[in-house]
Amino acid sequence: MRILLCGGAGYIGAHAYVVLVERGHDVVVADNFSNSSPGVLVRLQQITGHPVPFQPLDLRDREAVVGFFARQQFDAVVHFAALKAVGESCERPLDYFHNNISGTLNLLHGMQAAGVKRLVFSSSATVYGDPASVPVREDARLQVTNPYGRTKLVMEQLIGDLCESDPGFHAANLRYFNPVGAHASGLIGEDPTGIPNNLMPYICQVAVGRREHLSVFGGDWPTPDGTGVRDYIHVTDLARAHADALDFLVRERRNLTVNLGTGQGISVLQLVNAFAGAAERAIPYQIVARRAGDVAEVYADPSLANDVLGWRAELDVDAMCRDAWRWQSQNPQGYPSA
Ligand code: NAD
Ligand code: WQD
Repeated sequence: MRILLCGGAGYIGAHAYVVLVERGHDVVVADNFSNSSPGVLVRLQQITGHPVPFQPLDLRDREAVVGFFARQQFDAVVHFAALKAVGESCERPLDYFHNNISGTLNLLHGMQAAGVKRLVFSSSATVYGDPASVPVREDARLQVTNPYGRTKLVMEQLIGDLCESDPGFHAANLRYFNPVGAHASGLIGEDPTGIPNNLMPYICQVAVGRREHLSVFGGDWPTPDGTGVRDYIHVTDLARAHADALDFLVRERRNLTVNLGTGQGISVLQLVNAFAGAAERAIPYQIVARRAGDVAEVYADPSLANDVLGWRAELDVDAMCRDAWRWQSQNPQGYPSA
């Protein structure tokens, strides 16, 4: 298939690019580099052995998006492009609504005008908010706790309405849990700008000496060791699910909403200890107050993905830490500027 990856220069998109090319697809990356750098394209060329077809594109520019679809033919779109920082979304909700929701509307307009009828969408476990019980199944109550989460839920709903209106349009909403790790080559990985919001990149930057210590947000959660429990999933496993979801859309011609996680809850301290083992160095940390908006425990029931996609996570937490560390230690400052 000829596939457009919107936001394909980002962390998850770049890993999906590699898997889709390995599966023989013809893949084009579109991005505005608002949270990524052109350096990733050089690395993707190193991994795949071919130049990366790239289109500069800002999804907020409807004319540009519709014009692009009018000039190019695609069999499917994978839509990663979004702003994703929860705290920032509380400070600048309108920017998040504009970028994520209006951007998605523009994309859907471009697809509809050009007759492109397959979409794989990056949704998130954030749509479950603070779940009533774990593991979380896809039919759990949906509830958002911040503007970023609201954009993900609204985008799922907009896509759902379009699917309802056009029986020929099919979408897969992939609800990622906590993606971590990096490609086994160490050439691509997570490269956050500024102070990392998420746990794994923060640990990586402590390990490489860019930050003094990790602040563990709360040691008094109702969990076995008192720290927050999440479902960390290796980005390579996650990437593979996008290829499987595209195959599903072609084969089954129906819509899908599915959790992507390992099904295993890991605490902050378990991740810190696994990382210390993988990197063979101590990760200094201090337990501090809980972070506003955090919840005790979230992990997936991933059985639907196994049933309908034949997909399951294969890489364990040690592989996640080993690969994250390989990326960070080989690229202490992230991607070099191109
Ligand atoms: P990322 O920021 O690394 O990648 C997103 C990419 O989209 C970036 O390259 C950015 O430049 C691009 N982009 C953003 N707005 C754009 C616009 N208007 N036009 C064109 N390009 C634009 O993030 P990621 O971690 O790779 O996440 C990918 C997707 O997965 C996002 O939609 C995110 O909400 C979702 N998600 C991520 C996580 C996570 O923890 N990383 C968890 C669940 C869901
Ligand atoms: C994990 C655990 C923290 C940083 C977020 C978004 C979610 C999704 C994934 C996109 C928690 C603890 C963290 C630190 C810490 N993104 N922590 N010290 O909060 O599960 O999910 O990213 O859709 O929407 O909310 O991930 O990595 O921020 O936190 O102790 O410096 O690590 O309290 O228990 P989270 P995270």
